[in-house]
Amino acid sequence: MGMKRCSVMIVMMLFLQQQILISRAQLSSHNPYATSCPKALTTIKAAVYTAILKDRGIGASLLRLHFHDCFVNGCDASVLLDDTESFTGEKTAGPNNNSLRGFEVIDSIKSQLEAICPQLVSCADILALAARDSVVALSGPSWAVQLGRRDSTTASYDAANSEIPSPSLDVADLISAFSNKGFTPKELVTLSGAHTIGQARCSVFRGRIYNESNIYASFATSLKSNCPLNGSDDTLSPLDSASPVSFDTAYFKNLQANRGLLHSDQELFGGSASTDAHVTAYTNNPPAFFADFATAMIKMGGLSPLTGTDGQIRTNCRKIN
Ligand code: HEM
Repeated sequence: MGMKRCSVMIVMMLFLQQQILISRAQLSSHNPYATSCPKALTTIKAAVYTAILKDRGIGASLLRLHFHDCFVNGCDASVLLDDTESFTGEKTAGPNNNSLRGFEVIDSIKSQLEAICPQLVSCADILALAARDSVVALSGPSWAVQLGRRDSTTASYDAANSEIPSPSLDVADLISAFSNKGFTPKELVTLSGAHTIGQARCSVFRGRIYNESNIYASFATSLKSNCPLNGSDDTLSPLDSASPVSFDTAYFKNLQANRGLLHSDQELFGGSASTDAHVTAYTNNPPAFFADFATAMIKMGGLSPLTGTDGQIRTNCRKIN
């Protein structure tokens, strides 16, 4: 590469990094709803806890919604927009279709909030708070969610397909997918720790349990009954078979024992020294995982939000006003 092209790229990278910092700085560390809608945070928390009492798996789904929102053109609730005849959103993109869950919980929160303080609390902030409350409800760490996001009037089917990493990626590609969003290999490991809760469909791990050799034999065998070579594509299995509804470090211990469910999970241990060390560190130090996860979630929640007069506060998270 020529010197000139190289310096242009460095300038562009610095510019991008600065944009990420600037957009993060626009979110507020104090709660902007404290005066405008004092019951907002408690309403969201109560709704999340009620939903989790009914279905413990829903907490994981709410955490994932925030991730899939933020990685696609920023945390702007674009993931929540329904398709219409004249609008294609993100819900039918490969990583989301027939896979994302929890939309009804967000709908219920939004209608409760619209009843007490109309057009004040954004769907994007609801997603960020519901993700945090879910992790806390499942015994994970807490963090101060930065607020002030507004909702998009657009969505991108193509970006949802290209920006959300696929479970078939190898570690080098996972590192670069996260680096594209400003995250280090360590933060890739930290955020992947979200797979300590939740479930995956047979169709996304079939290749791993039938074809891969770095998988603990009896673990693979036990999964095959619910995930045959043909059919049962949508049957769910836990990402962390040791403690599927508890936010802990069992996910990392599983990786050390070749019990990662997704190809992309197992890639984080045994695939690269730059991720192995962090997996090992977290198994030995749960408080470090909790602290790093909290910090990384605040960073993820700061990806390119709409603030000020950009975007809108949707009255229905599924539709543009
Ligand atoms: C490192 C790259 C990642 C890949 C390749 C990946 C891939 C996947 C896949 C394939 C599923 C199962 C989907 C299905 O079967 O329908 C899943 C579930 C899940 N993912 Fe990830 N993910 C990644 C990172 C993350 C991050 C950063 C978070 C959150 C911070 C996250 C949170 C979750 C949760 C909580 C579930 C379970 C959802 C549920 O039970 O409804 N993932 N992920």
